[in-house]
Amino acid sequence: MQQNRVAIVTGGASGIGKETAFKFASKGDRVVVADFNVAGGQAVAEQIMANGGKAIFVKTDVSKYEDVEALVEKAVDTYGRIDVMFNNAGIGRVTPVLDQNLNDYHNVIQVNQHGVAYGIIAAGKKMRELGIKGVIINTASVFGFLASPGTFAYHASKGAVIMMTKSAALEMADWGIRVIAVAPGAVDTPIIQGYKDKGMVDSMKSKVMGNKLTLPEQVADTVYLLTLDEASAINGSVVMADEGYAS
Ligand code: NAI
Repeated sequence: MQQNRVAIVTGGASGIGKETAFKFASKGDRVVVADFNVAGGQAVAEQIMANGGKAIFVKTDVSKYEDVEALVEKAVDTYGRIDVMFNNAGIGRVTPVLDQNLNDYHNVIQVNQHGVAYGIIAAGKKMRELGIKGVIINTASVFGFLASPGTFAYHASKGAVIMMTKSAALEMADWGIRVIAVAPGAVDTPIIQGYKDKGMVDSMKSKVMGNKLTLPEQVADTVYLLTLDEASAINGSVVMADEGYAS
């Protein structure tokens, strides 16, 4: 087992990111919790420390490259290295394609697509500079493959995450850096708890085997497994963490 790793988790204040931060910490990794939700992110870092782990919180808006670059610098200044970059922060907006506010469209692309691109670039550059054979994991979605009404921009952003992952993996293999996408299906987190159309949540649930929502802890477990050396053959792949989400 690799020791003394440092893992950055974006969107670490809530849902999948929060549970993944706890998972890494429970395995002895030092965790850098990044989010623009200051209270939530600080609470996660404090809980890790209260349990005897090591963590810091860094306020970060992933849609700004300078924030993501500063996040990576802060991680290295604090802990001396980064082994894992989990580009997970994301947002969803539900509106029919022809009725949507273009600001919403741009925001979804800015956070879900550009935020992941910035994380890949900033962390990849630092890993290459420091000679670290790290792992970059990007949160995609079954919606990167499957269409559903009302989520036009979200599909575009998650499809982009999948192809950015494959493209970056191809080049970063030269430095021993793996880049992987994880694709959850319907996960019980605030992003879908906030859907006003509860019928949409029921419909998503019915597509998961066992008619249930996946727990964020289950996705966190998958992410953790992908970061291990034992997963070294997994690279440039989209790993489904969707409990069989059907179209
Ligand atoms: P969540 O809403 O619980 O967590 C998202 C986190 O991202 C929040 O803490 C939020 O403050 C943060 N965030 C949003 N915009 C940000 C920005 N510009 N900069 C920094 N932080 C920002 O939702 P959840 O479900 O944990 O989402 C995590 C990822 O999983 C997202 O990329 C989402 O698209 C993806 N996903 C979620 C699914 C679900 O059913 N919940 C299914 C498939 C993918």
